[in-house]
Formats: sequence, structure tokens, C-alpha cells
Amino acid sequence: MAKRRTFLYGAAGALGAGAFSWLAAQQDGCTAQQMHESEQELAAIRNRSFDDDDERDSLGDRATAKGLLYGAAVMSNKLSSDADFAACVARECNILVAENDLKWKALRPAPDQFDFSRGDRLLDFTQCHDMQFRGHTLVWHNGLPDWFENTVTDDNAEQFLQTHIQTVVSHYAGKLHSWDVVNEAILPEHGRRNGLRRTPWLELLGESYIDIAFETAAQADPDAMLVYNDYGIDYDTSQEERKRTAVLELLSRLKSRGVPIHALGLQAHLRGDLTHFNPDKLRSFIQDAANMGLKVLVTELDVSDRYLPRDIDTRDRQVAEVYEAYLTAALAEPSVIAVLTWGLSDRYTWLSRFQPRSDGGSVRPLPLDEQLQRKRAWRAIAATITHRLNP
Ligand code: XIL
Repeated sequence: MAKRRTFLYGAAGALGAGAFSWLAAQQDGCTAQQMHESEQELAAIRNRSFDDDDERDSLGDRATAKGLLYGAAVMSNKLSSDADFAACVARECNILVAENDLKWKALRPAPDQFDFSRGDRLLDFTQCHDMQFRGHTLVWHNGLPDWFENTVTDDNAEQFLQTHIQTVVSHYAGKLHSWDVVNEAILPEHGRRNGLRRTPWLELLGESYIDIAFETAAQADPDAMLVYNDYGIDYDTSQEERKRTAVLELLSRLKSRGVPIHALGLQAHLRGDLTHFNPDKLRSFIQDAANMGLKVLVTELDVSDRYLPRDIDTRDRQVAEVYEAYLTAALAEPSVIAVLTWGLSDRYTWLSRFQPRSDGGSVRPLPLDEQLQRKRAWRAIAATITHRLNP
């Protein structure tokens, strides 16, 4: 254990230099020399000997060996302010997704302005570290700028939607692995036709907003994988079953209208205290999507420990079990091409704010703890990736 600790701090320290060279390079982009240095640092870390041979390969290395992608959602400001964290991201991931930096609120300071600075810094980081990059998200009812409500109207909504998607997707054209084009469009509880969620875009444009979004994105970047992404479709409950059905019906309508959509994203915000998981249900849902010709990505995986007991070991075990059960089922499906956790370390997780514990203890939903140490959750992800049969 002591040795492992040394390794992890050592890795962070050594790669920290790489992260700093990235910081210095932000203005000019990443030079070949800097890439070379960070590759040497990575190689040095990989060549060390360890007590526990099972922990030598990072999640990204294991994923690569299986033709899979593993990565995490990150914010550019954390990569630039926390070199140890950035080093862990560089070590563990072969794909990143922008947690907030490509949402409307970040990109659109004013109706006629675009600010790509934060998104571009993330792209630079991924390019420096030879990773792929996912865009999140072009259409969502949250994360809209304050000016949106009083500016976008029935008369100009289509124009706003098209201009946004055309400009943003063109800016990153050829450089991104995939885009979450439409996020969270289904919510049967809203009682709307086809289970559609009541969102500003639905009110303004009807269901056609979804078609317009995918079509505009495809025109702006014909090579990007275009994804429909949603949550609440993981568990064996009647509520989630209704939502799965509505999602599949939406995907089927889009396909039958010839809309360019390539993949389904399962957010997979899971809970450590729930027992309603049924691997067969999840697999048959994934198969239904695959039968429409869609790939599947696990896009925002985390496991909330909000309602788990205070004892850390108990919590970590239960969280790891949930990771293992979910990924064992998902990765048994050959259509699943990527797994991304919504954050990498408990140091930075949206759940500290959105699902805090009532006992005031800090939440532990991610593969690395607050000190950037690998947890049982890390080992569960590592094992499920490593044991995946090659499709
Ligand atoms: C969350 C971010 O993690 C937070 O930092 C932000 O304050 C709100 O959004 N589903 C999604 C993500 O698709 O965009 C959300 O991200 C989490 C739920």
C-alpha cells in the first residue's frame, strides 16, 4: 500500500511537469518537443515496477488494448490550476469530454458572440496528450445563458439554433470524436406527446428542433459521431422502462426520417443504494439501439454514495459493486464503444453540490479519491474493461 501511494504521488509529480509544459504552451498550442517530453514522462511512469502488477496499466491503456475508449468529464480551469490532477487525467484517460466548457452558457456571452477560449484549451490538452475529445452539448434545456429567455423567440429560434450549431461544430470540425447533439429530450412525466420533455426548444420549434440540430451538426462536421444522450434509463423500474421506451421511439422516428444520428449516450448517473439494476434489461435496451444501427457510449458514469452509510470502506465497496455490475452488463454488448465517468477524482465532482451527504461527509462517487488515489471503483472499472471479450 505504501509503495502504491509513492507511485501515485510520484506519477502525479512526474507528469506534473508535462502539465506545466501544457500550461506554458497554451498560447502557442502544443509543440512537438512538448509532446515528446510528455510521452517520455508517460513512458518512464509505465516502466516502473510495482508491488501490485494489476495496477500498472491505466484505465485508458486497458481500454486501448480492448479497442475501447475510457475517459472523463473535465473543466479546463481545473486542468490549468491543478497540475497533479491534470497529470492523473493525462495518465488515466484516452478521451475527454467537456463538462461545462462547451455548453451555451460558456460559449455564448452575448447573443452575437462566441467564446471558444475554454473549449480550445481542453482541445489543446487532448491533442498534447494524444487523446480524443467529445463535445457536450449543443442542445439542452439547462446551461443556457441569461439572455436566452428574452432573446430567442418563435420568429428567430430556428435561426439561433442553426447559427449556434453551425458555428460551434464548424469551429471543431475534424477534431472531435463525437458530439452530444441533443441532451435529455425525453421526460414522459411532462405528459407531452411522444414523451418529449417540455423545454424551451420544444415550445419554440416542436419536435423538429431535434431533426434540425442533428442535420445542422452533420453538415458542419460530416465526420463527427452524432449522439443522442439521456439519463434515467438504467434501472428496472416502471418509470425508467417508460423512459427507455420513449427514447427508443424517438430514435426510431429520427432514423425513419433519415436524420443523421449515429449513437446513443447512456449518462448512467447511478446510485450506490439502489437494488433495481437488472443487467438483462440494460443489455436488451442497448441491443435495441444497436439494432437501429447505433453505437452506444456510456457518457457520464458516476455512482452517488449520498444514501450509503458513513463508513468509507463500506461506501467504497458498494460504489465499486455498482460500477462492476453496470459495466459488466454494458461491456458485454459489442455496440458499446466508450466509457466516460463524470469526473475522474472525488476532488472535483458535481455531486458534492448536487447530491451532498446529510452527514456533511464528502462524497466518493469516482474512480480516484480526493487525494488522487485509486479506489475500489477504479479497480472495478479496470477489471471490467480488462475482462471484456474482444468484440
Ligand atoms: C453538470 C455539471 O457537472 C455541473 O458542473 C453543472 O453545474 C451542471 O451540469 N447531465 C448532463 C451534464 O448532461 O451536463 C450535467 O453536468 C450533469 C447531468
